[in-house]
Amino acid sequence: MKFFSSILLAAVSLVFSGCRSTPPPTPLSELNSHQTRGHSVFQTRCAACHYDRQSGPLHGPSLLSLYKKPALPSGAAATDERVTATITQGRNLMPAMGGQLDDADLNDLISYLHTL
Ligand code: HEC
Repeated sequence: MKFFSSILLAAVSLVFSGCRSTPPPTPLSELNSHQTRGHSVFQTRCAACHYDRQSGPLHGPSLLSLYKKPALPSGAAATDERVTATITQGRNLMPAMGGQLDDADLNDLISYLHTL
């Protein structure tokens, strides 16, 4: 009986560790000044449609662990080029925001997304 319960415990802990395969986001209090600025750009421009620090869809997919996962929700590689193009040119129901963000906003936003 003891043997079986330890197998069960091992199986359960395997399942739970499998769910948390990526490290958690950097706490907001530990962000550098660019990342903190990027967080406020996120709040203004993206938060209405995307969660950043929790999983699950809003109007678009959650951006939690964006760069820590093997691919973007669409299946494309999670690169700065691809994410920047998504933001500036839009994608399906996501509006193009190239005209609303300057280079500093965009760079700080990308820095913040890397902390998720
Ligand atoms: C009006 C709602 C809306 C806003 C605002 C918005 N998005 Fe999106 N976003 C979406 C939707 C919807 C998708 C899913 C598009 C698809 O693949 O069909 C998406 C997809 C994405 C993707 C995944 C692209 C891929 O290749 O899978 C990224 C990354 C992303 N958004 C980042 C952002 C960032 C960063 C911002 C803020 C600058 C932002 N979005 C603002 C709706 C929005």
